Amino acid sequence: MSSSSTAGRLNLRVVQPPPDAAAASWAISRRLLKVSLWCTFTLGASFGAANLLTIHLALGPVPPAHNWVHASFQVVGFVLMFLVGVAYQVIPRSCGVPLAARGAARATLPLLLTGLLLRMYGQFGPLLPGTPAALLAGGASILAGIVAFAGVLLATWRTAPASKPRIGLAGVAAGTFWWLAAGVLLVVEGLRAVALRDADLGARYNEAFYAAALVGGAMSWIQGMFRRIGGATFGLRPSDAPLLTLALALWQIGTAAAVLGACLPPGPGGQRLFDTGLIVLAAAVAVFVRGARILSTAAEEAPAFHLAPAAVRRTVRLAFVAALLFAALAALYGASELTGRVPSRLIWDGARHALALGCITPLILGLGSFIVPRLAGTPLRRRRWRSTGLVLIGVGLAGRECELLASWLAWPPALWISGTSGLLAATGVVLAGGAILGVLRARPEPDGRQNAGDGQRQRGEGRHAGQKTSAEASGPALPAEPQV
Ligand code: HEM
Repeated sequence: MSSSSTAGRLNLRVVQPPPDAAAASWAISRRLLKVSLWCTFTLGASFGAANLLTIHLALGPVPPAHNWVHASFQVVGFVLMFLVGVAYQVIPRSCGVPLAARGAARATLPLLLTGLLLRMYGQFGPLLPGTPAALLAGGASILAGIVAFAGVLLATWRTAPASKPRIGLAGVAAGTFWWLAAGVLLVVEGLRAVALRDADLGARYNEAFYAAALVGGAMSWIQGMFRRIGGATFGLRPSDAPLLTLALALWQIGTAAAVLGACLPPGPGGQRLFDTGLIVLAAAVAVFVRGARILSTAAEEAPAFHLAPAAVRRTVRLAFVAALLFAALAALYGASELTGRVPSRLIWDGARHALALGCITPLILGLGSFIVPRLAGTPLRRRRWRSTGLVLIGVGLAGRECELLASWLAWPPALWISGTSGLLAATGVVLAGGAILGVLRARPEPDGRQNAGDGQRQRGEGRHAGQKTSAEASGPALPAEPQV
């Protein structure tokens, strides 16, 4: 794939949506992105850091529900809402049509947020009244939000002309399917909680939900978007398309095995299926990294509009190094269980966070810092926040993985490092997320200009001196038709 063809693909504007339609859909995305960031700033990353400090430094007991709430805010709040916010911009632009089914698109955020808050209440378990019903209502509301999301994408896709772009479609479709499956699992959790009159018993399906959402939903979307955006955006050599297709196919098989295995009643059958799924997923990561040429020497690229800034390119590479760490730890965990050993849960925690914190989070915040300013037509001004934040997340992950040393070397002091690592990671999330929030806060002025001012826009990232965005070239700024 030549960089010129990638540049062509990156200019996702095929026809110009009417400015009012583009502005309306941007308002929907903007709210989703803002709420997503606040979810991770509060009960997502920050609460996780407090829990980690408490658990690893043995400062006191942490009820399992604290971890469940943290996970709900990260998975549904941060990851899903961010993905929906970006998808509502990227998919219509790549199809060259305005966002369809805007009523459903507007309803997505209230449905997801209400569901998340009800789920959080439900996760208090026996401490509060009515928690089983709240868990069920929360799951149903989140599922409704995901159905709305899938419906909007489908309706938008249907309105596109016959020459729709199909690159990356399989990953996007598979990812959306897995988010739907994750939503169904939340409803199943709620039904179980209501039937057994104990919200805590609903947690039985948590592991299956995390696998469907993070491994199936987020990672399939990431693979689809990688194919769509193209490695040249990240200064990579042309990718090997058949290997990427194989990786996606393996990824689906591994996810299906892991989700099904986690759903089956506790016992050797389900465990073996789950472990086999982990090993297939590990192979899929290795095939993807090879096919995407992520670790090969960077292609020589002159600064260009389509090329992500160096900090983002570095982040993308390191994110997939973290995915390889996930692969190694997941394979180790799966193989140990399959051969009759009892691996430490710390290995699974290390694998989970290598993927969630080391890969998915930097990809969201790094790519977000590149894409969101272009969608908003406002430059990223807090670039130092972004860069420092991404470094802190990386350092935080390295610290978190020290929990493995505590397990392997039976060296408890390593838990002092892993215990405090959450504070670094959460600070990194707040800084990198805060950089994006700064872009989202800049309101368009009535004449279509951003209040950031022209002078500041010239200094911002996402544009090089002398380059014009398509929006500028064709008149009013943003959000009519910025390039992605
Ligand atoms: C700021 C960085 C983070 C910190 C400090 C953190 C902390 C924690 C802690 C302390 C646990 C409980 C581990 C245990 O049971 O021993 C946990 C579990 C979990 N975390 Fe995180 N986490 C972070 C980022 C993330 C991200 C980005 C995601 C997803 C996108 C995530 C998803 C999960 C999930 C799914 C669980 C399992 C919850 C359960 O036990 O049911 N975490 N995390």
